[in-house]
Amino acid sequence: MFEKETIELFKTLRDLSATSNGGWKHSPVENAKIDYFPAHLNESNLINFRRTALSGGTISFPDRPLWYLPQPQSIASFKPWPKGIPFWQKVRGIRDILMQMYRVNKQCKIKMNGLTDNLVGNPCYYLLGHRKVTDFCIRMFYYHEKLKQEFSADSIETIMEIGGGFGGLCEKLISSKEFAIKTYILIDLPENLSLSYYYLSNSGLKVKVAVKEKDLDSINITETEKVVILLAPWLLPKLSRKVDLFINTMSFQHMTLDNLKYYLSEIDRLKVRKLYLVNREGKRDPSDVVMSKYPISSAYELVKKEAYPLSNHETRIYSLR
Ligand SMILES: C[S@@+](CC[C@H](N)C(=O)[O-])C[C@H]1O[C@@H](n2cnc3c(N)ncnc32)[C@H](O)[C@@H]1O
Repeated sequence: MFEKETIELFKTLRDLSATSNGGWKHSPVENAKIDYFPAHLNESNLINFRRTALSGGTISFPDRPLWYLPQPQSIASFKPWPKGIPFWQKVRGIRDILMQMYRVNKQCKIKMNGLTDNLVGNPCYYLLGHRKVTDFCIRMFYYHEKLKQEFSADSIETIMEIGGGFGGLCEKLISSKEFAIKTYILIDLPENLSLSYYYLSNSGLKVKVAVKEKDLDSINITETEKVVILLAPWLLPKLSRKVDLFINTMSFQHMTLDNLKYYLSEIDRLKVRKLYLVNREGKRDPSDVVMSKYPISSAYELVKKEAYPLSNHETRIYSLR
């Protein structure tokens, strides 16, 4: 469901993005999406988006096929593999899944009933007993448990996330009975905002989209039921909402200093109470900014620093002074 609506939304976002300015623009590593999406965003690829390059950069093996065509630099070179998983991928996949569970378990005790994936986008999954487990659902379990440890006492009603991939963490948190989240504002590039619309709508959530200034009239009011707001990045300076928690996982690390200044100055303006960041403290591309050099306002203090168990990333938590 929602394939046609998603394709329409993408066209609207793409057209509007061409005329909107501001520091939100695609960072160098995201440039390949600009040509890839218009050519490949169709119904079949959307249904299988977690096995195609539409989700390039947001998920990795073992949830998508391992095999690449010869140009690994291009996201257009992923081999879509919608028909089934070969035996060798299953073996390597289960090995990686067990490894990830072992790593997470060191920081947060694994609860098998917390490992759930709704399989929207048709990811590769691995059977542990009757349970269909993905790498993605292990990561979401980890974030859920960590955020519960750090913030559940803080009455988090409104979350804002920038660079949410296809909306997986948003779905996990807003659907959780262990938080009392009412509004989840998700900001991303046109390509990933469209994927998030598809994923979240198919996950049964109420989704509102703000692409033009007039859409903000219904967004800047407090909701009575749980709602996800997909906010075009150029509208962020017009947002006026109380936000309790800001989340950014593995997306500031790809952004240029201009991107970071744009987003972090808005977070400062909105006086968001807490910031939860998981990013690299090292450069991969020349334009990357390491986490300790992010232009975070002096209104915030660093309250926690911790290793991320699943890869070479660091968690930092900031609080408004
Ligand atoms: C590596 S993915 C991370 C996805 C997810 N947060 C995770 O941890 O798996 C990077 C995300 O940041 C988004 N992104 C990159 N540059 C951006 C920008 N300038 N403005 C907004 N979002 C951006 C991408 O579209 C993508 O959703």
